[in-house]
Amino acid sequence: MSTVFPHTASAPGKVILFGEHAVVYGRPAIAVPVTQVRATATVEPAPPRSGLTLIASDLGKSVSLATASQDEPLAAAARITLDHLSSPEPDATLTISSTIPIASGLGSGAAVSTALVRALAGFLGHTLEPAEISTLVFEVEKIHHGTPSGIDNTVVAYEQPVYFVRGHPVERLAVAASFTLLIGDTGTHSSTKSVVDHVRQAWKRNPARCDALFDQIADVAEEARRAIETGDVDALGLLMDENHALLIELDVSSPQLDELVDAARFSGAMGAKLSGAGRGGNMIALVEDNLTEEVAEALREAGAVQVICTTVTTTE
Ligand code: MEV
Repeated sequence: MSTVFPHTASAPGKVILFGEHAVVYGRPAIAVPVTQVRATATVEPAPPRSGLTLIASDLGKSVSLATASQDEPLAAAARITLDHLSSPEPDATLTISSTIPIASGLGSGAAVSTALVRALAGFLGHTLEPAEISTLVFEVEKIHHGTPSGIDNTVVAYEQPVYFVRGHPVERLAVAASFTLLIGDTGTHSSTKSVVDHVRQAWKRNPARCDALFDQIADVAEEARRAIETGDVDALGLLMDENHALLIELDVSSPQLDELVDAARFSGAMGAKLSGAGRGGNMIALVEDNLTEEVAEALREAGAVQVICTTVTTTE
C-alpha cells in the first residue's frame, strides 16, 4: 500500500491584509501567503511495528501517535489525515521544522499542520488538493484556536492571495499591480485563542458596538479588494491605516504594535496596521520599493526583532 520512500512537503506563512477578527463574525477578509518563511515536514520509513513518531525538531519535542493525547496538535493532524485516507498507522518518522515565528500572527500553526498533512499523504502515495488539505487543517485549527474563521488554513493551503468569507467558497484574489510589504515582529508572543476570546467577551457585553466595528472593517476589506483588483496601491495604504484604527477600537492592538505602526508611517510607509490576532505578534507596512531599507531600519530602531520584506506579485 504505502511507498517506502522519504517524502518532504512544505507550506508558507501568511499575513492578513484586512479583516482579522471581523472575519470570525462572518465579515470578509484578505490574506496573502508569505513564502520567505516556511514549515517543512519529512516522512521517512521506520522499522516494522514502530508506529508513527512525530518530531518537532525546533521545539525538541517527540511524540508517538499511539500514546499522544487527542488534543496534541501534531498527533491530531496525523490522525485526521490517516482517517481521511482510510489508512492504518504507518511505521514512519515524521520530522517537522519551521522558520515561521510561533504565536506571532504569521500562521505558524496552520503551516505546520499543512506541511504535515501534505507530507504524510505523499508518503502514503496520495496527492491531496488544496481544498482537501484546507478542510483537514481546519479541524486541527479548532484544537489550536477554538473558534477559527478558517482563513489561516485557506491561505496557507492554497498558497495564493485570497478573499475569504467564513462558510463561502474560497475566492482567489486577482492582484492587478504588485506591491511590497514589510512585516515587523514585536517579539511579543500572542495567543490567537486568548485574543479571539477577548473579542468574544467584548461582543457579548456590547454586541451592537462590536457589530458596528465589524461592519466598518468589512467596508474597508471590500474597498481593499477593489483597490487590489484595480491596482490602486495608494488607496491600499490609507485603507490599512483605517483598518488599524478600527482594530485599536476593538482593543486588540498593543503599545509595541502601535509604536511599529507609527515608526513605519513616519519613515515613509504608505500605510500600516497590525496583522493577525494582535496584542503582540506582527504588523505590516505597505512601502514603495525605494523606501524598503529606510522603513525596515526605522522598524528595527523602534524595537522590531525581525523584519521580513515580501512582494505580493500580480496574478494572471
Ligand atoms: C488569526 O490569524 C486571524 C483571526 O481573525 C482569527 C481567525 O480568523 O480565526 C484573529
